[in-house]
Amino acid sequence: MRFWSLFFLSFYLILELLVPKAYCQTRMVLIYGSVTSSGTSTSTTFKTVEDCKNGCFEKEDCIMMYFMLEKCRFYSYATNGQSFSILAQSKSYVAIKTDASNIPNNTCPDTFTNIKFSYTSPATGDTYSFKKNSTGLSYTSCKTDWKRFERADGTFVCMNIVLSNGTTYTKAQERCQELGGTVTGVASVEESKFLQTKVPGPQPKGFWIGGGRNCPTVPCSSFRWVDGYTTSYDALVPSNAALTVSKNTDANSENYLTVFASNGTPLTINDINQDFTSLIVGFVCGYKIL
Ligand SMILES: *[C@@H]1O[C@H](CO)[C@@H](O)[C@H](O)[C@H]1NC(C)=O
Ligand SMILES: *[C@@H]1O[C@H](CO)[C@@H](O)[C@H](O)[C@H]1NC(C)=O
Ligand SMILES: *[C@@H]1O[C@H](CO)[C@@H](O)[C@H](O)[C@H]1NC(C)=O
Repeated sequence: MRFWSLFFLSFYLILELLVPKAYCQTRMVLIYGSVTSSGTSTSTTFKTVEDCKNGCFEKEDCIMMYFMLEKCRFYSYATNGQSFSILAQSKSYVAIKTDASNIPNNTCPDTFTNIKFSYTSPATGDTYSFKKNSTGLSYTSCKTDWKRFERADGTFVCMNIVLSNGTTYTKAQERCQELGGTVTGVASVEESKFLQTKVPGPQPKGFWIGGGRNCPTVPCSSFRWVDGYTTSYDALVPSNAALTVSKNTDANSENYLTVFASNGTPLTINDINQDFTSLIVGFVCGYKIL
């Protein structure tokens, strides 16, 4: 008797210790489906849908499992830029890790179109969302070492900070293109604050980002992003950006944008002259996931 209560007690305690609290906020959503195009996946020895689902649930980087013909495969949210897509289809199963808050009333809806398939990892802090249409779902990871940002306009952008002292904006753009991106714009205060934490000291120093002064006339206090995918100007509010009104034709005009860090100032974006490369310690490349 005592043996058994001890057994249950220790079993319970082990579960409490091993299962992060955030797991209560996560569900596996099971649908009939088949994975039509696949990047890297991991084969496992799980033999039932239930075990396959639970195995993925417990593996932190597993965002989806695919069970077909008694074979269970796991898919990671980090697969170096690869994509996979899921088409609704009977006879095989797909289960997707999803934040419970995305499931209406925490119950199973009639159709997958009522769920936002999106998982926030306690390990990375990043959110990994699937794209969805009426016939299926798809997911694309960022390339290794590129940070994922899921934006308010529904787009997904991957960013890579390249440390490089004194680089010109032109050189930064060349290097970003070699890496498969472009010097990126910044869509929110949150994004610029994240980038600011990566600026190495001693300060003030900054990273080139993909935006500049944009006026037909002078003086000018209007800026635009030039990456082709950043649409929000929320990061350029006065509480976040130290932007001057300037003549964009002056020799000293500060026409280029940086994420900068200056000894504790809450501001994260600064406009500088393109020749002020002594302030530059790197640049931020980005690309939008299609
Ligand atoms: C959620 O639950 C509430 C209260 O039970 C109910 O009124 C509401 O209709 C439910 N919403 C959905 C989307 O099922
Ligand atoms: C819907 O998504 C599926 C899975 O990603 C894809 O194969 C299909 O082409 C998409 N359909 C449309 C109309 O975009
Ligand atoms: C940039 O310069 C600083 C200070 O001289 C140095 O510590 C750092 O290693 C340099 N960074 C790179 C990427 O060269």
